[in-house]
Amino acid sequence: MKLWSGRFTSKSDRLTEDFNASIAVDSRMYRQDIKGSMAHARMLAQQGIISHSEKDLIVQGLEEILKEIEAGQLQFTVEAEDVHMNIETFLTQKIGEVGKKLHTARSRNDQVALDVRLYLRDEMEEIQKLMLQLQEVLLDLAAEHLHTIMPGYTHLQKAQPLNLAHHLLAYFEMLRRDLERLEDCWKRMDYMPLGSGALAGTGFNLDREYVRQELGFSHLTRNSLDGVSDRDFALEFCSFASILMMHLSRFSEELILWSSEEFSFVEMDDAFSTGSSIMPQKKNPDLAELVRGKTGRVYGDLMTLLTLMKSLPLAYNKDMQEDKEALFDAVDTVKQCLLVFAPMLQTARFNKARMAAAARGGFTNATDLADYLAGKGLPFRDAHEVVGKTVLYCIQNSNMLEDLSLEEYQQFNPLIEADIFTYLDVKACVERRKVPGGPAPERVQEALEEARQWLRRKSDEQV
Ligand code: ARG
Repeated sequence: MKLWSGRFTSKSDRLTEDFNASIAVDSRMYRQDIKGSMAHARMLAQQGIISHSEKDLIVQGLEEILKEIEAGQLQFTVEAEDVHMNIETFLTQKIGEVGKKLHTARSRNDQVALDVRLYLRDEMEEIQKLMLQLQEVLLDLAAEHLHTIMPGYTHLQKAQPLNLAHHLLAYFEMLRRDLERLEDCWKRMDYMPLGSGALAGTGFNLDREYVRQELGFSHLTRNSLDGVSDRDFALEFCSFASILMMHLSRFSEELILWSSEEFSFVEMDDAFSTGSSIMPQKKNPDLAELVRGKTGRVYGDLMTLLTLMKSLPLAYNKDMQEDKEALFDAVDTVKQCLLVFAPMLQTARFNKARMAAAARGGFTNATDLADYLAGKGLPFRDAHEVVGKTVLYCIQNSNMLEDLSLEEYQQFNPLIEADIFTYLDVKACVERRKVPGGPAPERVQEALEEARQWLRRKSDEQV
């Protein structure tokens, strides 16, 4: 029998039952649902709304149900519709009439608003850990590659020389901001909604504060309508997840590109690559490609939620039941991607010689030649023009800047002297960029130390 069957005179159509049920999706919140129910029952007893012995029966019953679900001894049913009513049904089957008191002063609307928050909170902690692990890998790799010279690109054209550590630390910064976004989402999610009831609160004398503390929230939702209608936190999570995935997809794209024979900057370990069923020579960076691809589904989850919530009148609408599939998919995808990304990166082998050689061709030091002239008093715009002409001359004669003789240089501008050859060495070009935030190894070393300290602080906050 349906928990809400009182005002109905005939049974639901089987199609209605199947269509309406969310148990296949929301059963994964059983732990959170039970936790919330226990806190609610304790509070009801403390307030004299149910007796202490009734509360003991309920709490004990819920504890047993938790164990039985974990042991695979209980079967969720579509008849009971969702995780909330499945568990309530189990409870009443187990402890009898008293089980029916649990839902006093509560609605599934505030119950689900609570459960999703509790669930997401647990998952966010997991995600935070995975992100910190990836950041750790980035720092270890950066420490190894402080002096690995590589070309930096704009428009995917060689631009200026860098070192790999600096490049890797760029991703560290993206992840740092992603983590801050996650923490931000947490702050706004950290509101306990029970007590909102269906929409209009309750006339029972609840102690919401007790439940808040029991469940470890920082605040109480301030408006019962908003408490049951708000899914901003799920949207914020999916926004965070989308931005994180966007960052991972850029990193993936670079690793894919760098794995190509044309670049040959990196080789993924066999353990994190796959082969082709027809072409025996192939070793493909599939994992990075999948991360890049899965970015699309996380964006899709965000769009699903935005579209789902658009124009919904207050307060709860059944549309909102659809929020979980998208949210859970974003959670699962982000976790999977972070989980494989860290070891994939950790085991990747960077080809230092190849990267350094690539940094040398392609006029990556042309800006430095212009800077050299500007340093000698030539206005930068004029220096730019001089170097442009010099580069054109090199292209026409199949030369690099380093190959020109002093006499040739001086034809372009007499300010150029013999020190130009050491000045234009790509290593020197990187070393000179000592501006804060720049790629000079000493700056990168500092950045690395700051990053390590930050990471240590974050990891400590975790435990
Ligand atoms: N399964 C529902 C959901 O996830 C729970 C809330 C149902 N509330 C209602 N008034 N039908 O949204």
